[in-house]
Amino acid sequence: MAEVALENVSKTYSKGDRPAVSDFTLNISDGEFLVLVGPSGCGKSTTLRMVAGLEIPSSGRISIGGRDVTRLPPKDRDIAMVFQNYALYPHMTVKENLSFALKLRKTPKDEIERRVETAARALGLGEYMKRLPKALSGGQRQRVALGRAIVREPSVFLFDEPLSNLDAKMRVEMRAEIIRLHNRLGATMIYVTHDQTEAMTMGERIVVMDGGRIQQVAPPLELYERPANTFVAGFIGTPPMNLFPPGTLSPTSVIGLRPEHIRLERSSDSSRLLATVDFIEPLGSETLVHAVLAKTPFRAVARIPGFTDLRHGDAVAVIPDMSRCTEF
Ligand SMILES: Nc1ncnc2c1ncn2[C@@H]1O[C@H](COP(=O)(O)OP(=O)(O)OP(=O)(O)O)[C@@H](O)[C@H]1O
Ligand SMILES: [Mg+2]
Repeated sequence: MAEVALENVSKTYSKGDRPAVSDFTLNISDGEFLVLVGPSGCGKSTTLRMVAGLEIPSSGRISIGGRDVTRLPPKDRDIAMVFQNYALYPHMTVKENLSFALKLRKTPKDEIERRVETAARALGLGEYMKRLPKALSGGQRQRVALGRAIVREPSVFLFDEPLSNLDAKMRVEMRAEIIRLHNRLGATMIYVTHDQTEAMTMGERIVVMDGGRIQQVAPPLELYERPANTFVAGFIGTPPMNLFPPGTLSPTSVIGLRPEHIRLERSSDSSRLLATVDFIEPLGSETLVHAVLAKTPFRAVARIPGFTDLRHGDAVAVIPDMSRCTEF
């Protein structure tokens, strides 16, 4: 078990390039499940790879369990990493795949047995131990990849989009599997994803990155209710927060409102904030109504419980719950 600390860590790949990561400072507690999320190219993998020792920071310091590891090779860091494109050894059975790293390290045989057995049980792989990877489903292979990390009993697990090759249903199942694993092992886990739903459902704390910089660090609910800036507001939430520019709801500031904090009412009263319904997304338990504000290019999305009889082209008044708004 170990805490991970990054102090003013920056990485520039080649001279003249914009830094991939700038001035990243964060303490990750022992046993925490931390998620790094942000759009493609924002520096998530670079950050994780620096913790792993696969990239050396251009400046700054990284420590694991209080020990400065900034320049240590991956093998001396007591970490295990699971990637999106994990490669199992195709000619080895599941059991051999799970044992391989331990054999290389000359771990005693009965200790290998014990660890492989425990990991296989935790991941429900018991009945597949003699199979080759080609005879497994994608989700089962992913579990073997996880198992190979678990048997090493590292103090820090690093995940880089480990579920992105799976179908939607399998992703949800594996997500739960990883959360259970975290509960059971209590190890520090750093998990990279570009999927904000994955981030919100898995992270104890979430780091939102953009352009190589931390935009906000917070637990999921705080991120949702009190986004630090318009980038976070527009990134977290499906659909994201509505951003009303100055002049629509406030003369001087941008107003953020979650879709559930907007009501729509049929109206053509020009003294109200009018909009025209563009399209409707019925989702069963709720309906998303997309509307375009009158005389502007700005759009608003309202989340309505159950169903609605509003249709494309209907004139509506937008009724914001200003007690729930965020001012930027
Ligand atoms: N080996 C490399 N050499 C040069 N530039 C790189 C290298 N790896 C990444 N970059 C650049 O650094 C920036 C951050 O990349 P990084 O892979 O960390 O992003 P990411 O957030 O993981 O994105 P994605 O969600 O697409 O995986 C990008 O602009 C990328 O082009
Ligand atoms: Mg990446």
